[in-house]
Amino acid sequence: MKKNIIPHSYHISISDRRKLNKHNSFLLWFTGLSGSGKSTISNLVEQELYKKGIKTYSLDGDNIRKGINSDLTFAPNDRTENIRRIAELANLMVDAGLVVLASFVSPYKKDRESIRNIVKDENFVEIYINTSVEECERRDVKGLYKKARAGEIKNMTGLSAPYEAPENPDIEIKTEKSSIEESVKKIVEYITPKLQLNNE
Ligand code: ADX
Repeated sequence: MKKNIIPHSYHISISDRRKLNKHNSFLLWFTGLSGSGKSTISNLVEQELYKKGIKTYSLDGDNIRKGINSDLTFAPNDRTENIRRIAELANLMVDAGLVVLASFVSPYKKDRESIRNIVKDENFVEIYINTSVEECERRDVKGLYKKARAGEIKNMTGLSAPYEAPENPDIEIKTEKSSIEESVKKIVEYITPKLQLNNE
């Protein structure tokens, strides 16, 4: 099937759309345990970008798994497929000229590497929201750790399923050591130069 598909080329390119938006487009990928604070931090970063007039879009596990990925479970193969589809979606959004903020547990190193390949290295910023499983379980915002301990949830990342922490993330946020405000500032400072358009 694939061999009969010939990509269509468009007249308006990614660099035209970036020029129109007056900023670069790329993917901010937040990885970390459930309850680590990915979505909280990502939402605040998005608000800061919005204030600067940057065009953004957010994707996160809880929403995407209710829609386009509602057919997927938390078994390893389905998690891989979850991340693959999101990476392809995010890639289209980056092509459309947006700064995409994606918050997914994404526990497997190989899956995060494949996102980097799909969106290309220069468009990918890996942000590790590093919160210990003990702290996530203590917070247990959604009550999922309690359910997992009670055996009602299988494959719970951090308890009964692995989380492969990034070894060399572009940004690492240790939420037990720094405040939310400091964390948001660190991310915004990192990406500000990246928003500038080079003369493509
Ligand atoms: S991923 O592993 O495939 O990247 P994703 O980020 O889409 O996960 O979804 C994680 C969210 O689903 C968590 O924030 C949590 O609310 C919920 N969830 C439900 N069951 C599990 C589970 N077994 N492991 C991790 N998260 C789960």
